[in-house]
Amino acid sequence: MDQFITTQQIDEAADAIRRRTAYAPRIGLVLGSGLSSLADAVMDADILPFAALPHWPTSTVAGHSGRLVLGTLEEKPVLVMQGRVHFYEGYSMSQITMPVRVMQRLGIDTLILTNAAGGLNPDFLAGDLMLINNHINFLGLAGNNPLRGPNDDTVGPRFPDMTAPYDPELRSLAHNVAASQDITLREGTYAYVAGPSYETPAELRFLLTVGADAVGMSTVPSVVVARHGGMRVLGISTITNLATPDPAPGQETSHQEVLEVGRIVVPRLTRLIHGILQRL
Ligand code: HPA
Repeated sequence: MDQFITTQQIDEAADAIRRRTAYAPRIGLVLGSGLSSLADAVMDADILPFAALPHWPTSTVAGHSGRLVLGTLEEKPVLVMQGRVHFYEGYSMSQITMPVRVMQRLGIDTLILTNAAGGLNPDFLAGDLMLINNHINFLGLAGNNPLRGPNDDTVGPRFPDMTAPYDPELRSLAHNVAASQDITLREGTYAYVAGPSYETPAELRFLLTVGADAVGMSTVPSVVVARHGGMRVLGISTITNLATPDPAPGQETSHQEVLEVGRIVVPRLTRLIHGILQRL
């Protein structure tokens, strides 16, 4: 696969989806590590395995079963991406964000992204939900921005603004839904790192110092590409582990722990997302 996905490849993938479903959703949902069972609630679903879609990057990680689920949630047509690919798997930024480009081609204008993240903010507990209100794109700042490469001016500008990547109205809606359902919803800045190794204590101290509340290995490239194309974005992290610079002996972070806590959070996250969809 070439480093940069072309407009023609995006069109071919979008056409393949249109041929396999009658749904034309305006809302897209991306489900992160351990959160894929949220797609089970989608009614009358058309299921499209990533492997059946041209040019679509396929995931190699446990907990990321790769398929698109198109159907209705709360009577709204949705496209749910069950599983995603990550930069650490060896794909380029353009490849990992290709699904968002295809969603834009399909007419999706609202994107809800979920992920698993390590909690840096000392007030956070494992199992908390955190609304993302800002991000630090470490890879982007260091030269791996997903918009690097040819720009399609018909999709978005060469130098897009990023002052409010996470839609203030959607955030306020999410807080209202959380309050009405007695769900504690934290809010904070998500630091995007490449992984796949978890952070050293020194790296965690650094991330805390620069203002991050949570750290994870996904979501941000999709947000940048979504905003470039003018989508409204809502991002929700599930704090699956405490990323503390001074862990107690035996308190190491493991992928197993991330998946298990993710599963415990799913019912609460599902309720929150259903409430948000009802009011969209
Ligand atoms: N660090 C980075 N990514 C993560 C973590 C973490 O502690 N937990 C879940 N994803």
